[in-house]
Amino acid sequence: MENKKNIVLIGMMGAGKSTIAHLLDEKLQDFQYLDIDKEIEKLAQKHIEEIFALQGEAHFRKLEHEMIQKYANYHNQVIATGGGIVENIDNIKLLKKNGIIFYLKASADELLSRVNKTNIRLRPMLKHPNPKQRLKELINKREPFYKMADFEINTEKKELLQIVDEILQKYDATN
Ligand code: S3P
Repeated sequence: MENKKNIVLIGMMGAGKSTIAHLLDEKLQDFQYLDIDKEIEKLAQKHIEEIFALQGEAHFRKLEHEMIQKYANYHNQVIATGGGIVENIDNIKLLKKNGIIFYLKASADELLSRVNKTNIRLRPMLKHPNPKQRLKELINKREPFYKMADFEINTEKKELLQIVDEILQKYDATN
């Protein structure tokens, strides 16, 4: 099988990384779907929020980095990352080696409305009296690093399949 660069999705919680990665995977033969958070949960045999509660964020970040070190070496993957991978700049560098990185962007209002549709309590980074304020703080802190992506995709007011097509067009243009 030909080695093709990974498609790596980065961005905040609620940006749609996992959903869009699944849709990309459905469209692409010979690509594997990989969700870094799910791999961490399998390895730790705990949910993300339990890892945060029992062992703290620093431990979670260590597991996240180890997982990226491992999978950044392979090709032909659609990789959904956790929103905080940019907390360690080495993660971006590793993922760039064999991958094209897409930053899925949305405003704090939009992100909040999307995470509110799932269970916000499962998002340890949003355990805060004012989750919207927290999202804004995280966006401000992380955006310079998200912008290290090869492409920025604005996800607001777009159909999911439109976003998928935009990513594939840009990805194909890099080959
Ligand atoms: C985090 C985002 C989560 C998960 C963890 C930390 C963050 O992933 O990795 O709760 O720091 O933004 P999603 O972006 O898939 O929600």
